[in-house]
Parts: sequence; C-alpha cells; structure tokens
Amino acid sequence: MQESHMMEPVAGEKLGYLISINGIIEKICGIRETNHLMDILISEIVALTDSDQGVVSLITKPADDGLSTVVRFRDEKCENLSHQISSQLLGWVLKNNSALKIDDLDGDDRFLGLDSRGGRYKRILCYPMVARSETIGLFILVRSDNKQPFEEKHCQMLGILAPQSAQILANAKLLEELTRANELLDISRRKLKEENLQLKNEMVADFAFENIICKSPKMKRVVSVVSRYCTSDSPVLITGETGTGKDLIAKAIHYNSDRREKPFVIINCGFKTETLLESELFGHTRGSFTGAIRNKIGLFKEADGGSVFLDEIGDAPLSTQVAILRVIQSGEIRPIGATKTETVNVRVISATNRNLSEQIAAKTFREDLFYRLNTFIIELPPLRERQEDLPMLVNHFINKSKVKLNKPPLSITPEVMDFLARFNWPGNVRELESEIERAAIACGTDGIIGIRDLSPGIVRAASAAAQPAACGSELKTVVEKVERDLIVKALAESRGNVLAASRALGLTRKGLVNKINRYKIVLDYKRIVSEK
Ligand SMILES: Nc1ncnc2c1ncn2[C@@H]1O[C@H](COP(=O)(O)OP(=O)(O)OP(=O)(O)O)[C@@H](O)[C@H]1O
Ligand SMILES: [Mg+2]
Repeated sequence: MQESHMMEPVAGEKLGYLISINGIIEKICGIRETNHLMDILISEIVALTDSDQGVVSLITKPADDGLSTVVRFRDEKCENLSHQISSQLLGWVLKNNSALKIDDLDGDDRFLGLDSRGGRYKRILCYPMVARSETIGLFILVRSDNKQPFEEKHCQMLGILAPQSAQILANAKLLEELTRANELLDISRRKLKEENLQLKNEMVADFAFENIICKSPKMKRVVSVVSRYCTSDSPVLITGETGTGKDLIAKAIHYNSDRREKPFVIINCGFKTETLLESELFGHTRGSFTGAIRNKIGLFKEADGGSVFLDEIGDAPLSTQVAILRVIQSGEIRPIGATKTETVNVRVISATNRNLSEQIAAKTFREDLFYRLNTFIIELPPLRERQEDLPMLVNHFINKSKVKLNKPPLSITPEVMDFLARFNWPGNVRELESEIERAAIACGTDGIIGIRDLSPGIVRAASAAAQPAACGSELKTVVEKVERDLIVKALAESRGNVLAASRALGLTRKGLVNKINRYKIVLDYKRIVSEK
C-alpha cells in the first residue's frame, strides 16, 4: 500500500506519456506516404517534448539527395537549424549509433566548432531511428536557452517512439518503393506488349503470301488455294518432299487466319517416344509416369485459340493417333494420368513427306485419322517440277544471304544460273537456299558468284545432266572447263596436297594426277595455275 503510494506520481507521469506515445503511434500507423508521416510525427514529438524545433531526417538511397528532411517549429519565429549543426549531429549519431543529449551546445567539448547562435540552439536531443538493425534516420529536438535542458524522461519517450516510428516509416518507404517498382513494371509490361504486337505484326508480314516466292502455275495454284483455306477452321494436311516449304505454308495459313493473335505451336511427331510425345501434346499429371515430377500443360492447351502444327505426322505412334483423332473430332484432350478431359479450340495443321496411303495399307497409319486430317490437302510439288520458280528463288536467297552475311551486293553469272537449273535438287528449296548461302560465303570480294563457288557435287551432277541438245564439242568444252576449275580450286584449298584434293573431289590420287597432267595444271609451291 505504502509502496503504491510512493510510486504513484512517477507511475502517473509515465502512464501519461505512454498514453501520448500510443496516441502518436495510432495517428501515424495508417499513413502510407512518408512525407506526410514525418510531418505528423515530428509535429507531435515537438509538442510532447516542449521543444522549439524538431527535425526528422530520413536517410535515402545515394541516388537521391542523401537525406529527406522535415522540420517543424513550435514558434513561427524560429530559424532552421543550420546545415553545419544538423550534419555534425547526424555524423555523430551515425558514428556512435546512440542517442545524443546536449545541455549546452556552447560548452560541449564534443562539438567545439559549433555555437548555439545566441542561445537559440542551446539544448539538443538527437535520437537515431533504427529499423531491422539499420539506422534509417534520426530525430533532432532543439530548445533555446529560455528553457531547461531536455530531461531523462524525454530520452525515454524517444527511446520508445523512435524504434516504433522507424518501423512504420521503413514500411511506408518500402511501400512507396514497391509502388514505384510496380509502376515501372507496368510501364515495361506495356512496352513489352507493344513490342510483342510489333513482333507479331512482323511475323504476319514475314509469312505474308508475297513472301512465298513462286512463278510456276503449280505453285501459284497452291498459294491461291492456301489463301482460301485461311478463313476456315478445318484441318489441313500438307504433303511434299523434304524442303518443299511445308513449314512455310503452315505458318502462312496460321498468320493469315483469324487465329494469328493466338499461339502457333509446332511439334515434330517423329522425335519423341510414345509417352513423351503424348505428354508434349496433351500434358500430364504429377507422378503419372517415371520422371513426371510436376503437372505439365500440353501444347494443345497452350495453343488454345490458335493452331497446332503436327510436323511429320506420319511418324506419330498409333496410340497418339487415336488421341489426335479425338481432339480433332471433339476438341477434347486428356493429360496423361488425368481423370477428366478438357476442351480446347485449336486448328490442326499437319505435314508429312511420307506416303500416308502406303502407311494405311501397312497399318501404321489410321485411315480414320487420315480422312480427318485431310479435309483440305495441299500437295507441294518438288522444285524440279517447277523450274520457273528457280530464278526467283535464287534471287530471293541471294538477297537474304546478303543481309544475313552483311555482304555488299551479290550477283550470279548466267552460267551459274544455268547450272542451278540443271540440278535436280533432291533437298528442294532448302538445299537451294543453303547452296546459295554457301556460294555467297565462298565468292570473292567482287560479290560475283561463279561456278567455282558452287559445291563440286552440284557442278558434277549438273554437268552430267546437261541436255542432249547441248552435246557435242560445246558440252565437252564446258565440262572440261568446270572440271579444270574444280581441280584448281580443290588443289588451292589443299595447298597443293594432291591426296587431300583427290579426296575432296571424290577421285583416286592416280585419277587426279592423270587429270592434272591432262589439263596441264602447274603445281607451284604457293601458286596453282591452270595453263590453258
Ligand atoms: N516458295 C518459297 N519461297 C521462299 N522460301 C521458301 C519457299 N519454299 C521454301 N522456302 C524456304 O526453304 C526452307 C525450307 O522450307 P520448309 O522448312 O518449309 O520445308 P519443309 O517442307 O517443311 O521441309 P521438311 O520436310 O524437311 O521439314 C525454308 O527456309 C523456307 O523458308
Ligand atoms: Mg518441315
């Protein structure tokens, strides 16, 4: 009883300022904006501690000013604490990481260079604000010599207020940074969307029908038919030898259809095991087979709204063919291991260079799927059956190589065009494209692609395939010239090594020596010349 009587005044005072502190915390808790928060905080503390002036400074990132400061005065006539004083106080607090109480600035040994400016800044109390073990700022309270020095209770008040307000300020700062980061993210997202749209537009332009180079009636018919198929959602089957442009046509169908904004997903049905292919196409649930460590979305689901290009469909295993048939008929897919089916809206475009009718007869391809796939069928003729396309394609690939290889203008001699036209191109347009690119690399600085820049195999085959009309001494001369050029080139590349050159030409050493003698090719140490 006696004890409670003795403690009463102190406990009452403590309770009084604890209630005030609680009131301040409650006030600032809901404020999100740091400047507003600092403003309220320092105004309240100035009033609570009967200070003439209060400063709250937040240490900001180096990229900004370094400090963000809010000053509040009790009396409008007060003058801002000088920069010299505030920066020295800040330095001291940061260095010692503790509170600082100055009763008489003029007589304080720790700050010999500072004076109280006629007693205006006589009494000072500084308190660091520490949040998550980091000093994020400080309070500075100032009294003039009209007032008593700060008391221990003021230190205690700040001792409670500083860490709590530090935490609230740090959170508000974080929130502001997050909002700023979110705004930046929004900006980059918008930019990405714009870029994506631009890329899509470029894709659409890349696969515009004008980029399918053709002059022959056969290919013109194909392109005209393809352009009509774009408006439909029915499956399309593209057949043709390797390199005839099946991928190109499939992309043209998608990017010229109403689905162009949605995904175009390509899957090669020939490269995967049965389970892996089904998992790629339809997805799987976790644990449905060894190695299925998490759920996976299939390509049909990914392409929802767009098109799926089933390349090499002839290589799909029979069980996968059943699932493909289901998705074409009903739009239903079932991931491996799933109990429920899902519905997708996908256009199926497929391609093969195999003869599916033969596969049906051999029972390796389902007839019902074949009839479903080929609602529309596009048969791409081999390049040898559309000779008229060749010059245009050659020029197209020359321009493409020029851009790709960053070369000056390239041209081709009529003789080379003749040779290219005589070759039968088993690898079709792809083979022609790589031959032109190869020649563009091999040709000299004049940018003229000559016969010696072509692959020996193509020159040999083209020479052999010369038309009978061109027979006689003229053909013999051309063939000999080509042969001699090729030998000279091979010898130059092997630096005069006959064995290496004979291997490169597909001849025996003896055979090459005979030809060297016949064409009177001089095997100089550094120079290989053909004497005509
Ligand atoms: N008419 C054409 N105009 C321009 N480029 C073409 C044309 N046809 C084919 N190409 C080009 O030839 C290359 C091969 O074409 P693509 O990949 O479409 O052939 P493919 O029939 O799918 O071959 P594969 O059966 O080997 O997969 C590609 O670089 C393609 O752009
Ligand atoms: Mg292909």
